[in-house]
Amino acid sequence: MPTFSDFQQARISDLQIEPIILDEPISIDQLPTPALTIDLDILDKNMLKMQSHVNAAGLGLRCHTKMHKSPIIARKQIAAGAIGVCCATISEAEVMLAGGITKILITSPVVTDDKIRRLLALCQKSSEVEIVVDYIQGADRISALAGEMNLNVGVLVDLDPGMGRTGIEPGQKALELVQHIGDACPNLTFNGLQMYIGNCMHVHGFEKRRDKYLHLISRGIETKKLLETNGIQVPVFSGGGTGTYNIDAQLGALTDLQAGSYMFMDVEYRDIGGQGTETFLDFEPSLFSLVTAISKPQDRLITVDAGIKCLATDTGYPEFRDIEGATYHFGGDEHGIIQLNNASREINLGDRLSVITPHCDPTVNLYDYYYPYRQGTVTEIWPISARGRSQ
Ligand SMILES: Cc1ncc(COP(=O)(O)O)c(C=O)c1O
Repeated sequence: MPTFSDFQQARISDLQIEPIILDEPISIDQLPTPALTIDLDILDKNMLKMQSHVNAAGLGLRCHTKMHKSPIIARKQIAAGAIGVCCATISEAEVMLAGGITKILITSPVVTDDKIRRLLALCQKSSEVEIVVDYIQGADRISALAGEMNLNVGVLVDLDPGMGRTGIEPGQKALELVQHIGDACPNLTFNGLQMYIGNCMHVHGFEKRRDKYLHLISRGIETKKLLETNGIQVPVFSGGGTGTYNIDAQLGALTDLQAGSYMFMDVEYRDIGGQGTETFLDFEPSLFSLVTAISKPQDRLITVDAGIKCLATDTGYPEFRDIEGATYHFGGDEHGIIQLNNASREINLGDRLSVITPHCDPTVNLYDYYYPYRQGTVTEIWPISARGRSQ
């Protein structure tokens, strides 16, 4: 009979992390659908574009891995020049560390002893594991438990950008928390600030997005100055995402960018609009659900084998990669109903179609494996090792 802690341990030791190399390559047309595929040429292009962008701006790239959940992809990003990764949860961080990534920032606070002990187990394995704190209670408890283990934990203070989700109010309250960490938390080291302005990333229209972002981040910039005026060094100011990557570069306030979605892109991001363009074209979709047409119940309708069990529905509908005039509607758990309105090509039963996912992060969380390909050929299969790791 395993104990609960044995069970938790096994969830890490039994992880499938490494690529499965096929003895014989297969065509993506041979994959069972629905399948989550990655066009590797586009993935590489997106990765290198973002990396050269941050390099030119003098920013570090601390890419968020909450969307791809794969140490294989994280390693590619580090090899391309990223300074480290971000994770949203302790269990995502456990997976990244098991996959050989050592510089990890956990971007959500933890306050309960079970999570703090798991955090400290990570810190024992890598001194480069850091976490955000946004409340005195959490900071005190991490410091106390770290003290019992003779550990020191690097922390960033998370600032609320006005979203009311996590983070302490910028300004005086943030200063008090940082001072408290310095005065009363001997086992924490204050490494800087985090301000991820999630309520800005999907604002439609570049100018509107930039104006809102500049307004909101100004409170973070003021907070950094306030700390410095009070004699506190702020080596790190981390934040930003795919929707603000070029605004952040010009502004020069952050030390590192936490962008994630640029690697895969999705319909939600594509529709935010770019600088002088209706759609956001700076990064191209590289992630596609491959689906099959399985039924034709009515004229001008065709059904595919992909419903809400394989396409996240929170932000809208998937779109076809290369068909115009075919509109996807969710048809339940396992089905999507495609309405054909002068479709740019005929769709027959058995045809395989690639759709751009509505929202990449929760869609990825629905699959066990990626099928990465170049020119339509799959040579290896990548486990989505951190899928379901929300704890
Ligand atoms: C704290 C934090 N940082 C960075 C990101 C990545 O942002 P994006 O996917 O917009 O690039 C997210 C995404 O939700 C996030 O929550």
